[in-house]
Amino acid sequence: MVSHLDVNLPSPVYPIETTLTVAKGINLYIKRDDLIHPLVSGNKWRKLKYNLEKIKVTNCDCAITFGGAFSNHIHATAAACFALNIPSAAIIRGEIDLNNPTLKYCISTGMKLYPISRTAYQLKENAPEVQYILSKYQNPIIIPEGGTNELALRGVAEIIDEVVVANMPVPDIIVLAAGTGGTTAGLMSSSSLLSKIIAISSLKSDYLYDEIIKLTKGKNKDKLTVLTDYHFGGYAKWDQSLLDFITSFEKETDIALDHVYNGKAMYALMDMIANGKFAPKTTILYLHTGGIQGKNGLEYMLQKKRR
Ligand SMILES: Cc1ncc(COP(=O)(O)O)c(C=O)c1O
Repeated sequence: MVSHLDVNLPSPVYPIETTLTVAKGINLYIKRDDLIHPLVSGNKWRKLKYNLEKIKVTNCDCAITFGGAFSNHIHATAAACFALNIPSAAIIRGEIDLNNPTLKYCISTGMKLYPISRTAYQLKENAPEVQYILSKYQNPIIIPEGGTNELALRGVAEIIDEVVVANMPVPDIIVLAAGTGGTTAGLMSSSSLLSKIIAISSLKSDYLYDEIIKLTKGKNKDKLTVLTDYHFGGYAKWDQSLLDFITSFEKETDIALDHVYNGKAMYALMDMIANGKFAPKTTILYLHTGGIQGKNGLEYMLQKKRR
């Protein structure tokens, strides 16, 4: 077991009420995976857990991963590797702005950053640039972009085990944000899953549903709905209506939401509730997947814009 990360598990589950959920008679619960750890929070911990355990028992001289400049995954990998004494590196899509708070933090943990062009990035391990970086290490272990692999799915499936024994009725529906679909696939790979799942794509995607089904090899396929109309222009894109929603939700519930994933997914959920998509008395569990470090990135970009 990974031992020197002090994680708060099982993550808390509790009911939340907003004016809207009360008006529509919806029983909304939230699972606060964002509270698992201040730096390795949400789906990041779930996805990294077994990957880190594997790395710890090998003679790996560097855990190498991939991500964008504001990536939650890069940030969490840097924090976890630092805590566990694993040397780490990240191959970053595009140029590096050293003042970006996510990368600043990664550097402070000792993570080595390798920016490569967007074209090379698309090729991942097949790019000559990446091969060159890998050749600098004796025994590197690659954690894929977003941390999605079989070990990640195993870690995520444990959420369902926690929900089964949580102090709440079996949810009719679980709602969560999706990017690569790994977290959704992890939930669906659980044999204890009784709920339907609604995954809200944070990016423009017409392949996410197929991607998830591929990852789960079709398990629990009939339980899945993927919604792709709540991306607000694409990955990490946002508009004022999204930011306003996040502010008012945070005021009403005291629960922080990031603008890349959970802001969009919670917006989608509230929009569906407002539009009567769920019958009164439906029990919905919202899985908060973390990503709050991304708020610093947003603030940084807003400040840059104002200058
Ligand atoms: C906070 C947060 N929520 C949700 C997701 C989407 O997860 P997945 O890529 O597993 O669909 C991510 C990205 O990994 C994330 O950082």
